[in-house]
Amino acid sequence: MKVLIVGSGGREHAIAASVKKSPKVDKIYCAPGNAGIGQIAECVPIGAMEFDKLVEFARQEEIDLTIVGMDDPLVGGLVDAMEAAGLRVFGPRKNAAILEGSKAFSKDLMKKYGIPTAAYENFDDPDKALAYLETAKMPVVLKADGLALGKGVLICQDFEEARAGVRTIMQDRKFGDAGSRMVIEEFMTGREVSVLSFVDGKTIKIMSSAQDHKRAQDGDQGLNTGGMGTMSPSPFYTKEVDEFCQKHIYQATVDAMAAEGRPFKGVIFFGLMLTEDGPKVLEYNARFGDPEAQVVLPRMKNDLIEVAEACIDGTLDRIDLQFEDNAAVCVVLASEGYPTAYEKGFPISGLERFDQAEGYYCFHAGTKKTEKGIVTNGGRVLGVTAKGADLKQARANAYKAAEWITFENKYMRHDIGKAIDEA
Ligand code: AMP
Ligand code: GLY
Repeated sequence: MKVLIVGSGGREHAIAASVKKSPKVDKIYCAPGNAGIGQIAECVPIGAMEFDKLVEFARQEEIDLTIVGMDDPLVGGLVDAMEAAGLRVFGPRKNAAILEGSKAFSKDLMKKYGIPTAAYENFDDPDKALAYLETAKMPVVLKADGLALGKGVLICQDFEEARAGVRTIMQDRKFGDAGSRMVIEEFMTGREVSVLSFVDGKTIKIMSSAQDHKRAQDGDQGLNTGGMGTMSPSPFYTKEVDEFCQKHIYQATVDAMAAEGRPFKGVIFFGLMLTEDGPKVLEYNARFGDPEAQVVLPRMKNDLIEVAEACIDGTLDRIDLQFEDNAAVCVVLASEGYPTAYEKGFPISGLERFDQAEGYYCFHAGTKKTEKGIVTNGGRVLGVTAKGADLKQARANAYKAAEWITFENKYMRHDIGKAIDEA
């Protein structure tokens, strides 16, 4: 089988590594890929939003299965374009990827079908948003409706901050068209858990839970980032939490999408908050998380290709999804200054240490191959993942392996998985 993966980050590297394990697969391509992915796949210089070129490439190379890793092409309709050309592709169609592409849509869906989430109102008029905020309970959460690289969420402590937030999102359009509509939502407190799942339109199978660390600095300080590290499973995702979510959230979401004439096939990522009143949905994503995929996929026992094909064919009910009875931690090695300003182009050493190390992975996020060797080429550079018998062991292993790598301006958080000690 020939497989094409669309994307270029650590998540796509983790997907490629899982695909490579499948005995069904002879050849992997990745568009556009990165230096690490290039070691196990052939990278093709086509951008994830160049739909015509991707379709043409998949046809020419007779690709048997395309896996779309990123949100932008999913929300933009890459799956529809590929299907229209008779190609097999894993991921939601545009009318289902809206679950991630529009927060107003997802909030309305949850309200209509009684899926637990924060109370909210949608606005497309900034004046009406301001009038609402005058009497709203603080703090309050403002969210740009559309995709904003995870940055379109503002937590405002008082009315003045909220007023500035409305201006930022709806008037200055800091997040572009994503801010033409806005959700204003009740502020909730609790631990966050990421739960990824496979969905075939009607059946849903939950993967092992994970926890992201979104802030740039230790102690959850600093700016929000794409994610500085993850652990799987989350020690707070208990049997009770799982039972509640199975009953009120997971199947309910899949059924709601089907009832709306938007059957979802692919990966639904449930961003959950474990509040005092029980688990609630913070957000949905229509894809694997990054860096959640880097700790969840290495622990999956199933053949990813088999599971993806079952999702496409509507036969997921026949798959017995299984995860190893261990744990994994991923520590992101970033460039000093991320997520704002940082330098690129520094040579990376130590990558070869991972070649023979069983249970250790170095997933590339922002790297580039040059004559000087592999150099840094982004804010998040690498995701170092290690497995262990339990979370403590996995964390110790991940931090040990994070030291195998050196590059100028290397930056990481030192407390990924610290919550283990509180569990
Ligand atoms: P989202 O992209 O919707 O997941 O929001 C990004 C982050 O903002 C979440 O991971 C939470 O940390 C925070 N957040 C979003 N919505 C809320 C809320 N209603 N209450 C508290 N924190 C929130
Ligand atoms: N790690 C969060 C995300 O992928 O959106």
